[in-house]
Amino acid sequence: MLNRSIIYQKLHLIFHSLQILAITNIETFDINEVIRSLDNLYKTSHEGELKLKTVPGKVMVRADKTQMNRLFTNLIQNAIEACNGKGKCDIELNEVRTDGVIQISIKDNGEGIPQEMHSKIFIPNFTTKSSGTGLGLAMCKGIAEQAGGRIWFETKTGEGSTFYVELPVAN
Ligand SMILES: Nc1ncnc2c1ncn2[C@@H]1O[C@H](COP(=O)(O)OP(=O)(O)OP(=O)(O)O)[C@@H](O)[C@H]1O
Ligand SMILES: [Mg+2]
Repeated sequence: MLNRSIIYQKLHLIFHSLQILAITNIETFDINEVIRSLDNLYKTSHEGELKLKTVPGKVMVRADKTQMNRLFTNLIQNAIEACNGKGKCDIELNEVRTDGVIQISIKDNGEGIPQEMHSKIFIPNFTTKSSGTGLGLAMCKGIAEQAGGRIWFETKTGEGSTFYVELPVAN
């Protein structure tokens, strides 16, 4: 049975998620600026390390900046939660740029995702956490696809997971 405070917490997160998705403001901006700003968020507030390996210079994308910020925050948050109780959390964000495309991956050394969950994790409401909404990855998928990109993952139980986001680069 969920207690009242967890229900309120979940409702708050659901409304916040809806707000972010409801208003879309497409602009052309440097995705590296958004990614580098995440560093400050996580550097001091969590156990372990977040390593950012961005490509040098600007990478312009055409998307909603608030939604992009939410996409990468959700993935980093999941990565941190996946190595809860592990002692040390090592998270690496890596960028690979090819013709017209930027691929951004977030790798954790967490618990991994069991095979039977693979087909469920992007479905809204699917969660294995008592205070989770299960909206995080569903939002990530919606945001990536809205920007003309895609999201997928690789995982090994007990070793960790890597989530990949691919976005078209704007001219
Ligand atoms: N990096 C990861 N490592 C292991 N499992 C993961 C990872 N990311 C997601 N999952 C699994 O996928 C489920 C769905 O993730 P999602 O972000 O959608 O929801 P949540 O994290 O449970 O809730 P919320 O995002 O609202 O806090 C999680 O409950 C977890 O079981
Ligand atoms: Mg989540």
